Amino acid sequence: MKVLIVGSGGREHAIAWKVAQSPKVTKIYCAPGNAGISEFAECVPIGAMEFDKLAAFAKEKEIDLTVIGMDDPLVGGVVDAFEAAGLRVFGPRKNAAILEGSKAFSKDLMKKYNIPTAAYETFNSPEAALAYLETADMPIVLKADGLALGKGVLICQTLEEAKEGVKELMEDKKFGSAGDRIVIEEFMTGREVSVLSFVDGKTIKIMTSAQDHKRAGDGDTGLNTGGMGTFSPSPFYTDEVDAFCRKYIYQATVDAMAAEGREFKGIIFFGLMLTAKGPRVLEYNARFGDPETQVVLPRMKNDIVEVFEACIDGTLDQIDLQFEDNAAVCVVLASDGYPVHYEKGFPISGLEKVKAKEGYYVFHAGTKFAEDGKTFLTNGGRVLGVTAVGKDLKAARANAYEAAEWVSFENKYMRSDIGKAIDEA
Ligand code: AMP
Ligand code: GLY
Repeated sequence: MKVLIVGSGGREHAIAWKVAQSPKVTKIYCAPGNAGISEFAECVPIGAMEFDKLAAFAKEKEIDLTVIGMDDPLVGGVVDAFEAAGLRVFGPRKNAAILEGSKAFSKDLMKKYNIPTAAYETFNSPEAALAYLETADMPIVLKADGLALGKGVLICQTLEEAKEGVKELMEDKKFGSAGDRIVIEEFMTGREVSVLSFVDGKTIKIMTSAQDHKRAGDGDTGLNTGGMGTFSPSPFYTDEVDAFCRKYIYQATVDAMAAEGREFKGIIFFGLMLTAKGPRVLEYNARFGDPETQVVLPRMKNDIVEVFEACIDGTLDQIDLQFEDNAAVCVVLASDGYPVHYEKGFPISGLEKVKAKEGYYVFHAGTKFAEDGKTFLTNGGRVLGVTAVGKDLKAARANAYEAAEWVSFENKYMRSDIGKAIDEA
């Protein structure tokens, strides 16, 4: 089989690594990919939003399966474009990817089908939003309706901040049309957990839990980032939490989408908050998490290509999804100054030592080749994700930090407390 993967980050590197293990696969392409991904895949310079070019490439190369890693093309309808061209593709159609693409849609869905989430109101004009805020309790959460690179959520402590937030989102259009409509919701407290799942339209199979670290600095301080590290499983995702989510959240979401005529096939990523009143959905994503994928896939036992195909064919009920009884930790190595201002273009060393060790992995997020075509150079804010497995979370954390020390480049920055929360479990 020939497989095409669409995307260019650490998530797609992890997917390519996992796909490469399938005995069914003879060739992998990645569009546009990155330098690290070229270890497993031939990278082709087509952007993830160039649907016609992607589909033409897939036709020309007789690709048997395309896997979409990123949210933007899914929300934009890349799956519909591939299907119209008669191509096999893994991911939700546009009418289902809206689960991630519109927060107002997902909140209305949860309300209609009694799926536990924070109380909220939706607003189409700044005047109405501002009037509502005058009577609301603080802190409060403002969310741009559309995709905003994960940055469209504002937690506001005071009425002043909230008013300023409405202005940024709806009047100054900080995230463009994503802020034409906003959701204002109740502020919740608790631990956050990410749960990834495979869905075939009817059946849902839960992978395992993970936890992200979104802030740039130790102790969850500093600015929000694309994710500075992850661990899996989450010790806070207990059997009791799992049972609750299976009863009220997971299948309910899949059934709700089907009932709306929006059959969901692909990945649903449940962003959950474990509140004192029980688990609540913070958000849905319609794709693998980044960097959650970098700790989830190294623990997965199945041939991922078989699972992708079962999702497309509606036969996921026949798959016995299995995970190793171990743990994994991913530490992101970033360029100092990320997510604001940073320099790039520095040579990276030490990668071979990590890759040579069993259970240790380097997934590239932002790298490119130097002119010699061999040396890796830093090429982004998040540069690499160093993942290691271990028999439990403590062992995996020690391994990941050992490996993170082996890799060096000028400007290297990482958090020193990825997975520290497990000590409190
Ligand atoms: P989202 O993109 O909806 O997951 O929001 C991004 C982050 O904002 C989440 O990971 C939470 O840390 C935080 N957040 C979102 N909604 C709420 C809420 N209702 N209460 C508290 N924090 C929230
Ligand atoms: N790690 C969060 C996300 O992928 O959205």
